[in-house]
Amino acid sequence: MSLIVIKFFMSNSFKTFLKHTAKDFHNQSVNPPVVRASTIIFKSMKHIRKTQAKAKKNPTGGHYDYGRQGTSTTYILQKILTKLEESYHVFTTPTGFGAVFLAIFSVTRPGDEIIVADPVYSPTRLLTEKFLKEFNINTIFYNPSDLKTLEKNITKKTKLIFVENPGSNTFDFQDLGKILSIAKKRKIFTAIDNTWGTPYFLKPIKLGFDMSIVSATKYYSGHSDVMGGSLAVNKKVFSKVYNAERITGLRLGPDDAYLITRGLRTLDVRLDRHRENAKKVANFLSKHKKFKLLYPYKKNSNNFRMWKKYYSGASGLMGLKIKSNNINSVRKFVNALKLFGYGYSWGGFESLALHQEFRETGNRKYLNLTKDEHLVRLHIGLEDPNDLIADIKQALRHLK
Ligand SMILES: Cc1ncc(COP(=O)(O)O)c(C=O)c1O
Repeated sequence: MSLIVIKFFMSNSFKTFLKHTAKDFHNQSVNPPVVRASTIIFKSMKHIRKTQAKAKKNPTGGHYDYGRQGTSTTYILQKILTKLEESYHVFTTPTGFGAVFLAIFSVTRPGDEIIVADPVYSPTRLLTEKFLKEFNINTIFYNPSDLKTLEKNITKKTKLIFVENPGSNTFDFQDLGKILSIAKKRKIFTAIDNTWGTPYFLKPIKLGFDMSIVSATKYYSGHSDVMGGSLAVNKKVFSKVYNAERITGLRLGPDDAYLITRGLRTLDVRLDRHRENAKKVANFLSKHKKFKLLYPYKKNSNNFRMWKKYYSGASGLMGLKIKSNNINSVRKFVNALKLFGYGYSWGGFESLALHQEFRETGNRKYLNLTKDEHLVRLHIGLEDPNDLIADIKQALRHLK
């Protein structure tokens, strides 16, 4: 670390910060190098001990004695994300789901209970509902549009409220401030999955959450070729997460950290364009009789109000609730899209579509879909939005 001169330009606007940060004046490269290391080499035994003492005194300072703890490449990414999140620290994990696990594992123990938003990402549901149960950690799911179902299920054992906003599949926007005040009153830890908004549109730690997760696989990397996750924390939970991270070895590798750092250079530009494109497509979709648009677009909806209250913008992922008693016609409609790829994940430069059936939604308690209602998820990419609208228009002829 000492050989590399990295300058973090502190600017008022983080748009400028993202462009100018982490230049490497030692190697004279605009982007920082990829430092790969399992063994971190020291000049002497004395030097090892000195570094270990520094790490103990300042655990967020980038003092490593073994590659599993990171290298300067992961440290730089953590520093950039800490500024972006306006948090105490950011841990980086090999996948976004690793960050979900780390958050929950850090603050819960056998005998505890957690309360989780019903529309969480389905692997988060499996983790909490099934896997953690084997460790005597019980999960109760709350209805995102009725926070009484959250409040009334709190017991003395409740350790954590886990929010995902908006909810997966149905894009429910919740009253985050209310959830936080319920949690604060009862001294319960809070975590939020903020992958949809990223700290560009919502800063959960500033709002009062203890932990905030982003799948870096999505908008941070932006090019659909990296897996990674970040877990931002406040000072209160830092030591718990730090200990859990060391025990589990859940750490991002330097090559992925490099690609995510490179992706972050254009995060604001890409998200601004995703937002503009999504707005144009949403305008078209909102006029169609068979669709209920699941996106903060219609000003008179509760979802819109909740989004507006907390977010400074909207990303490119949206849902459609389609009313049709002919499921095959829904499948045909989705299959007829030509510019939308079929595949999981989102947040890359390209548009994607998924028909969300039981495999995607999981066993949700408050889904409330009737037999003739179907969910389709669209990720609006960086193509020309007029082409995307024309593509949806031509596919619509299949929908009955
Ligand atoms: C909301 C949300 N959270 C977390 C994850 C998990 O991220 P990763 O795929 O990087 O493990 C995903 C992945 O699709 C997601 O949609």
